[in-house]
Formats: sequence, C-alpha cells, structure tokens
Amino acid sequence: MKIFKTRREFQQYALELKRAGKTIGLVPTMGFLHDGHMSLIDIARAKADVVMVSIFVNPTQFAPNEDFDRYPRDFDGDVAKCADHGADVIFAPEPGEMYDADASVWVEETSLSRPLCGRSRPTFYRGVTTVVAKLFLLAQPDYAVFGLKDAQQCFVIQKMVRDLDFPIEIIPAPLVRDSDGLALSSRNRYLSADERSRALSIHRALLTAKEEIISDRQAMAAAIEKAKSAIAAAGGRVDYVDILDCRTMEVPTADSRQVILAAAAFFGTTRLIDNEIFEI
Ligand code: PAF
Repeated sequence: MKIFKTRREFQQYALELKRAGKTIGLVPTMGFLHDGHMSLIDIARAKADVVMVSIFVNPTQFAPNEDFDRYPRDFDGDVAKCADHGADVIFAPEPGEMYDADASVWVEETSLSRPLCGRSRPTFYRGVTTVVAKLFLLAQPDYAVFGLKDAQQCFVIQKMVRDLDFPIEIIPAPLVRDSDGLALSSRNRYLSADERSRALSIHRALLTAKEEIISDRQAMAAAIEKAKSAIAAAGGRVDYVDILDCRTMEVPTADSRQVILAAAAFFGTTRLIDNEIFEI
C-alpha cells in the first residue's frame, strides 16, 4: 500500500493511474476508522481498480469552539485497517500541507446545506465541500463513497458534483450501527459508558417517530416533538429533530416521497447525529 503525504505527489500518482486507464475509488475520511468506514472501503473495492482512502482531520469544517484539537487520531491503526480491507493508497497530509497559508477560495453549496447541521454549524458544510472538492481534484476518482450517517453531507456533495460538473459518481453507503443500535461514529469514543447507553435514545426515538409518521402523515409534528422529549428524558440536549424532503431538504409537501428524519443531540459534551430515510 502506498502512503502519500503531499498533495503534488498524490495528484501526480493519481494522474498516472488515469493515463494508464485505471478506475479510482476514493473514500474520504477524517481517520480513527471504524467498521462504518470499512464498509465504505469495501464498496469502493468492489467498484474500482484502485482504492484510495484520504485521512485528514479537516480544520476548515470545525468552528473555533468545536473539537478539532481533541478529535481522535490513530494513524497506525488506520493504516492497518485500510490494508486489511484492500485499500491501495492512503493520502494523509499534515494540516499545513492541505491548504496554502493564504488560501482564499471556498466551495459552498447554498441550499441543501442550510437546514439541520448547517443551521447549528453554519461553517461546517463550506469546509466539507471545499476539502472534498480539493480531494476530488487531487485523487481524480471515478467513484467516491460517503456514508449516509451524515446523509445531508452526502446530498450536499451530490449537488456539488452535479452543479460543478465533476465527472464522479457519488455512492451513498448505508449507515452502519453497533449491535445495540448506536450509529457508528469516531466521536462515540468520547462517550462514557453511561452517556453511551443514554445515547441509544436517539435511534429509539427516531424509530418510534418513523413508525408514527408512516402510519399517519398528519402526525409528523407531534411525532417529532415526542422524539425530542424522549431524547431529553434520557438526558440528551437536543440540537434538532426534524423531517425534510430528501430532494429539496425542505419541509415535506404532499408531493414528497423520500424523507429524512434526522436528529442531533449532545450527551455530555459529545454531539451525535443519526437519521432514518424512508418513503411516505
Ligand atoms: O465525513 C467526514 O468524515 C468528513 O466530513 C469528510 C467527508 C472526510 C470531509 O472532511
């Protein structure tokens, strides 16, 4: 497995692969890899000749009060996991390598990125789309795989790819859960045992609300309020619970088919997100 630390060497290698007619599958990550990431690598492995994994804790998607400094990192462990799952290339730039000191260009999606996490983390998606656009130009992928745990991120990136004509197929991958139902996340590492068991309320509340909404569309608002109360009763500080049309990321209308019921809540100082995507 090849490991690149600089943008230029990585891009050079990717361009050589393209000239040789190879297809490339990219899995962008912030490292501290878990089984959810492994499922993304497996999907890329099944699609492309060459699988690249980027490992970069991207400073531009963290607000100053967020957890950039303490975000968990385990480079050696990540390399071993990537090798186990057949990745061919790791791109792991140092923070100072990824952005020039006087960088002044952003890539920003201004519609789908606004609600949900975009409301509580107003600079988050701008950081994500900027770094992902850079990763796309460096890695030259034919496919890029993103997990649906952050479904909004996936939709925003699909929109970026469409609007800016990146010749890349975005592959959304199913959210992966632990056996108890908690959505896998590198941030789960922050949770105490007690917080972790109370955090299971997020998924439970979403499942209950989903059933209620499927059986009675008119019950949407009540089901959402009930879900918020259930998470709060378990000790969570609710950021949002909301249901939106997946296509528009706006309030569902009579024409809406696929919807996302999404939640974000703090347990202790850890902010967790989860969602259910379904037809109404
Ligand atoms: O989902 C993530 O881990 C990050 O937002 C991403 C896509 C790697 C961009 O930094």
